[in-house]
Amino acid sequence: MLEDLKEQPKDKILELMDLFRADPRAQKVDLGVGVYRNAEGLTPVMRAVKEAERRLWEAEDTKSYTGLLGDPAYGAAMRDLVLGDAVDAARVAAAATPGGTGAVRQALELVRMSAPEATVWVSSPTWPNHLTIVKYLGMPLREYRYFDNDTRAVDFAGMMDDLAGVKPGDVVLLHGCCHNPTGANLTLPEWAEVAALLLRTGATPLIDIAYQGFGDGLDADAAGVRLIARELPEALIAASCSKNFGIYRERAGVLMGVAPTAAAQPAVEGTLAFLNRQNYSFPPDHGTRLVTMILTDPALRADWEAELEEVRLGMLDLREALADELRELTGSDRFGFLAQHRGMFSRLGATPEQVLKMRQDNGIYMVGDSRLNIAGLNSNSIPILAQAIVDAGV
Ligand code: LMR
Repeated sequence: MLEDLKEQPKDKILELMDLFRADPRAQKVDLGVGVYRNAEGLTPVMRAVKEAERRLWEAEDTKSYTGLLGDPAYGAAMRDLVLGDAVDAARVAAAATPGGTGAVRQALELVRMSAPEATVWVSSPTWPNHLTIVKYLGMPLREYRYFDNDTRAVDFAGMMDDLAGVKPGDVVLLHGCCHNPTGANLTLPEWAEVAALLLRTGATPLIDIAYQGFGDGLDADAAGVRLIARELPEALIAASCSKNFGIYRERAGVLMGVAPTAAAQPAVEGTLAFLNRQNYSFPPDHGTRLVTMILTDPALRADWEAELEEVRLGMLDLREALADELRELTGSDRFGFLAQHRGMFSRLGATPEQVLKMRQDNGIYMVGDSRLNIAGLNSNSIPILAQAIVDAGV
C-alpha cells in the first residue's frame, strides 16, 4: 500500500521557505510565508504571551484532558474578541481547533456532513490551502471574482455578479480582513451588500479571520464579520490566534457556529465536539490558555493590544515607505495601492517570470503569484525591493 503512494504536489508557500533557507546569499530577503517579523527579522514572543506563559507555568497543576471543545473560557473570550456584542452569546457555539486551518477544515467537514451537495465558493484568488482542503474533502468548488489585476483593488462588481449564482445552502468563504493573498479588502458598505446577497440567496457564510488587528485595528478588522453575524440567520467563523498573538506553533484557533436561535445552538455545539473527537479528540490547549489569560486580565490585555498596535502601525509604515520609494523611482503613483492594502500581504501584480527574476537577480523571495509579505521588509530591504521591482519591469 505505502509503495503505491504518489508524490504530493508541494505547497508553494512552504516550498518557498525551503528555497529561501537554501539560498547562501547574505542579502536575501524573505517576503514569502505569512509570519510577522520585526525590523531585526525576528518573530518575537509577544510580551503578554511571555508573561502569561510564566503565570501558567506557576499555576498549572495538571495536564489532564480538557473537554472536546477546549476550555470554555477560551471559546467565550474568542467569541467576544471576534463578534463583540453583534449576536446573542446563547446562539454561538465555539470549539478550539488546531490553528485557524483546523477551524477551516472542521467548518468544511460540518458543511459536508449537513449538506453534502453544497458548493463552496472561494474568492479568486484565495489562500491556496482553502482550495486544497475543499478539493481534498471532495466538495463541489466554485470561484468568484475578487481582485482586479489592473487596479489591484477588489473587483466588487465581478464578485457580486459571480455570487449571484450562489444557490440556497451553498457556502461562501470570505476573508474577514487582510485578504490573503491580495491585501485588498471589502469596505463596510460592500460587506453590507454581500450580507444582503447571502440573505437573498439563502447561502451560509464561512468567514476565515486570521489577521484580526493587523489591518485597521481589532474592532475595525472584525466589523465585516460582525455585520454578517448580525444580518444573517447563521454563520460559520474560523479565527486564528497565530498571527495576532504571535503563537504560530502553538496552533490556537477557534471555530464558531452562530446558530439561527439559542434553541439550535446545542446541536451545533454537539457537532463541533463530535468533529473534534473524530479528527483529533481534544484540541491543543497551551496556546488557548495563554490567549484566554491575556484577553481576560486587564493589564495583560492592555499590553497585548499595545504591542499588536505597534506591529500594525509598523506594517503600515513599511507600506508607505515602499510606496514612496516606488513613487520616486517611477515618477508615478502606479504602486500607490501598496499603501492602500491592509494586513500582511499585497499582491504586486508581477508575472511569474518577473517574480523569478527578482529571486534570481536580487535574492527576493515572494510567492509566485507576486504576493509579498510586507512584514518581511525593513528600511534596508525596501530600496532593494523597489529597485528590483523596477528592474524586473513590473
Ligand atoms: C501564509 O499564507 O503564508 C500563512 O497563512 C502561512 C501558511 O500556512 O500558509
